[in-house]
Amino acid sequence: MKWVFYVIVFVYMLYRTVYGLKPVENNLIVEPVTYGDDDFLKVGGHKTISCKASNRNQKVEWIDPNGHTVKRIPGSRIFSQEHFVPSMRGRAPALVLTVTRAEVEDTGVYQCKSGDLVKNVTLCVIAPSYFVDTMPEVSADFFRSITLSCQAKGEPEPKITWYRNGEVINDEDNSEKYKVMTKYNIQGFEGLLTIISLEPEDSGVYTCQSTQESLYVEECSHTSSFNITLNVNYPPIFEHRNKTQAVYAKNNQEVDIVCSASSYPIATYRWFKEMTDDVLYEFDQKQIKLSEDGTKATLTVVANQSTFWQRYKCQATNDYGVSEKYFTLMKMEKPKRPSEVNVFNATSDALYLNVTWYDDIQFPVSAFQIQYTTEETGKKKFLPPREATWRRSKQTEVNLEEGETIDPELGGIIIPLEELEAETAYWIRLRVTNEVGESIWSDPILVSTSAESEETTTTEAPESESEVSDDSESMNDGTFYGLFFAGGIFIVAFVCVFAMRLVK
Ligand SMILES: *[C@@H]1O[C@H](CO)[C@@H](O)[C@H](O)[C@H]1NC(C)=O
Ligand SMILES: *[C@@H]1O[C@H](CO)[C@@H](O)[C@H](O)[C@H]1NC(C)=O
Ligand SMILES: *[C@@H]1O[C@H](CO)[C@@H](O)[C@H](O)[C@H]1NC(C)=O
Ligand SMILES: *[C@@H]1O[C@H](CO)[C@@H](O)[C@H](O)[C@H]1NC(C)=O
Ligand SMILES: *[C@@H]1O[C@H](CO)[C@@H](O)[C@H](O)[C@H]1NC(C)=O
Ligand SMILES: *[C@@H]1O[C@H](CO)[C@@H](O)[C@H](O)[C@H]1NC(C)=O
Repeated sequence: MKWVFYVIVFVYMLYRTVYGLKPVENNLIVEPVTYGDDDFLKVGGHKTISCKASNRNQKVEWIDPNGHTVKRIPGSRIFSQEHFVPSMRGRAPALVLTVTRAEVEDTGVYQCKSGDLVKNVTLCVIAPSYFVDTMPEVSADFFRSITLSCQAKGEPEPKITWYRNGEVINDEDNSEKYKVMTKYNIQGFEGLLTIISLEPEDSGVYTCQSTQESLYVEECSHTSSFNITLNVNYPPIFEHRNKTQAVYAKNNQEVDIVCSASSYPIATYRWFKEMTDDVLYEFDQKQIKLSEDGTKATLTVVANQSTFWQRYKCQATNDYGVSEKYFTLMKMEKPKRPSEVNVFNATSDALYLNVTWYDDIQFPVSAFQIQYTTEETGKKKFLPPREATWRRSKQTEVNLEEGETIDPELGGIIIPLEELEAETAYWIRLRVTNEVGESIWSDPILVSTSAESEETTTTEAPESESEVSDDSESMNDGTFYGLFFAGGIFIVAFVCVFAMRLVK
């Protein structure tokens, strides 16, 4: 076991001869500058930055952004001070740069210097902006214009940018709607945003963003923002303005008629029943259910022989106007057969069918049942399939969503028939269903899907392969260094043994 001791002694002596004689190279280490939660030092704040030398005799100095040496006078606002800190070889000097009562002008690149060695460090000092005399909520009447004002104070001087829904408001692209201006007064710069000829859609949040950028250092900046809510006052507006809405119900069914107008401020509602031509009966407010947010007023009526075809009127009022909407209670009947079904357009895997009625649509529609077949229909190719063929055919259903209706003005609707084969002729017929029943089948039509469009199949880039080879390469690296290290130990051990032989 004696040789273990010899090895240790030998390795230590080897270390002393190799490293002991060589002087440690001069070096400088500057700790990175951090500011806590912010990206900058607040004006008036205090900061120390230490620059460590690796040698006792190294002469170190701090140079300020103007190129002057920072003096070692503790009384001044910015000074440097020497400390000795523990290091690899005893104690080494560290020169600590201290900035007190920081000013925006202190921003810049400070250099820790020792002979030819230079280490740069950036100091960023900002007086973060705050908003003054800025209103968080503003109201204005429709058709008018309004100017939102936003004033931010801080140093460097803030620049104001306006945002709406996350996008910058640019008055060059939209000069009919917006005007962006900056005004200078004793308080500083004021950002102004004028919104021209207000519409209900202009209601919402406008964000005023203040950006402060240092004149001295690019990455020294700060942004903060302030939200201004604009409320545009406008009279109640109903969807589909003056159209009378049909409300379908079965006999003795209780049915809710919902009246909801958009408006600001929120409208108040009144419900009426039309008696004869010019006489209205007003419902008591107790008979009207108002939604929690006050935007919907629901009237519940019982549908029966005395109420079918009854017209009801809802009136919505606010300070800016009055709007009315009529509803007619209709007896729910099963749908009528469509007058016409034709093809609106065709793709390789889908057909869009245009379903039309010539008469008024006085029934609700909940779904379309479609039958389609490619089966040959006997000798005469263009003869429609027989009932037996239809029974074997494919069937699918297209449901209308809750609340979706067929616009009586268009007199029809476009519905999709999907998952078809390309360049194939189909016989198609459909019928319409609702809660009460179904219509009879429409006249069959013969339609073809279009040819498959050529899609360029993208060839996969061999990314995964290169990743694998990267991996194996790094593994090779690992193996290489492992071998290298093991080899080193072997050589050292061999030399030791050899040396011990010599000593003996
Ligand atoms: C350090 O800053 C000085 C002055 O700003 C500049 O000239 C020099 O290139 C910088 N050196 C490094 C290593 O960034
Ligand atoms: C301002 O409003 C936007 C969107 O409404 C929101 O994401 C953001 O957090 C708000 N900012 C402030 C400072 O309240
Ligand atoms: C809506 O109806 C009112 C009266 O009921 C009428 O004065 C007005 O012109 C109509 N508006 C539209 C867009 O049809
Ligand atoms: C219809 O219903 C109302 C309310 O339930 C009732 O007063 C009226 O007598 C009914 N009329 C008929 C014809 O059933
Ligand atoms: C066909 O019409 C439907 C419904 O309007 C539409 O969604 C689809 O994109 C149209 N297809 C083509 C190829 O025009
Ligand atoms: C649907 O067909 C009808 C009748 O041919 C036609 O008047 C209407 O314009 C068509 N609708 C569309 C959206 O093409």
